Amino acid sequence: MCQRHRRLSATVLDLPHVCDIAAERIGRAGLGQSVDTVAHDFRTDERLPGGYDVVLLSSVLHNWDEPTDRALLGRCRTALEPDAAVVICELLLNPERTGPTDAALMGLNMVAETQGGRNYSESQYLAWLTDAGFTEPRVIRFDAPGANGAVVAVTR
Ligand SMILES: C[S@@+](CC[C@H](N)C(=O)[O-])C[C@H]1O[C@@H](n2cnc3c(N)ncnc32)[C@H](O)[C@@H]1O
Repeated sequence: MCQRHRRLSATVLDLPHVCDIAAERIGRAGLGQSVDTVAHDFRTDERLPGGYDVVLLSSVLHNWDEPTDRALLGRCRTALEPDAAVVICELLLNPERTGPTDAALMGLNMVAETQGGRNYSESQYLAWLTDAGFTEPRVIRFDAPGANGAVVAVTR
């Protein structure tokens, strides 16, 4: 995104060893002016860094159980000023959580490989965002590798 939109700047927030790898790749891509990294463990570090317009959680929430995801969304809400947004990008399940097939299979994989992770439905994310204090939650559908849509909400 930063390659395509030159006025955009971004921060990769991840565990320290992942930030080291990201920083090296950001440098190689010539994006050192627009992308930086912040080493952070969102399970143990108290506050997310603030000052951002958007938090993008891309294929992050499916790794964790519902209480962990709700806590992370709460921290995102605390970190964001008014008129900011959160974007959850995932393989979303339907409200019955029976499909689509790729989302259901990926969810099965997360159940097998993580402690508490699974794929969630768009209705679950919509409810969690509202409960965390976000407003105007909505779903934007698209077809991409690893995601079939985004659940977006804003701060007021
Ligand atoms: C499935 S990957 C998604 C990566 C990327 N956002 C994407 O869409 O391709 C999940 C990411 O969460 C990071 N992660 C796992 N536990 C974390 C934690 N406690 N704090 C911060 N990041 C964490 C992992 O290192 C990994 O980069």
